Amino acid sequence: MPRTLIAGNWKMNGLRADLSTLKEVAAALPPDQDNPEVLLCVPATLIASAADAAAGSPLRVGGQACHAKEKGAHTGDLSAAMLKDAGASHVIVGHSERRADHGETSAFVAEQAAAAIKAGLTPIICVGETLAEREQGQVSDVISRQIAESVPAEAQPGSFVVAYEPVWAIGTGRVAGPEQIAEAHGLIRKLLTDRFGAAASEVRILYGGSMNPANASEILQVENVNGGLIGGASLKAADFLSIYTAASAR
Ligand code: PGA
Repeated sequence: MPRTLIAGNWKMNGLRADLSTLKEVAAALPPDQDNPEVLLCVPATLIASAADAAAGSPLRVGGQACHAKEKGAHTGDLSAAMLKDAGASHVIVGHSERRADHGETSAFVAEQAAAAIKAGLTPIICVGETLAEREQGQVSDVISRQIAESVPAEAQPGSFVVAYEPVWAIGTGRVAGPEQIAEAHGLIRKLLTDRFGAAASEVRILYGGSMNPANASEILQVENVNGGLIGGASLKAADFLSIYTAASAR
């Protein structure tokens, strides 16, 4: 089984004063390498100071998106190399909020993921169906297409992470049930195995969508769940640490 990854996604939340939350998380983590890997993906403005604040602790810092190009005339965008240079180790790509707010297609997500790998970052590639797609029985079609188109040709099993985030469960308090999660994660594992063979067992598949201290333990026990991508509950150190503790007890 791959090492569990507990990743927080602060989204567009966090001023410098909120680094106290990150410092609280960093200070609480034991140095033991067998423990779950812990990551906070903060707004780009905080990456450098967050990386400084986390230095010497096992806490890693990540970004939430990157441009596919290395540099150039792309006003307002950030390259993967810039995130890496600021101290990030990971970057979320293809989050449903980016797909919706910025029209990011799976092809563009694959380019971002390839750029991240090239820059030495681990991309967390997000997939997941909307409520309408679920109600129309399209879950496996949507996930299959997103995995085929969003995981770049450059990817190797150890170089990326997948997050299954049903759109209807994000920020809604409505969490997917264990059977729904098992089905989606099992499908993703199968798709990765079709592509990478037995080495696909190394790929971490995170669940994301209203994960919190009360439901983390149950979700993390579902087959093929190798960690979580946590939005709202990563903004409070106590909640995020309690999810980490649930993951450590697995
Ligand atoms: P949530 O967000 O935990 O607030 O639902 C998860 C995510 O969007 O990554």
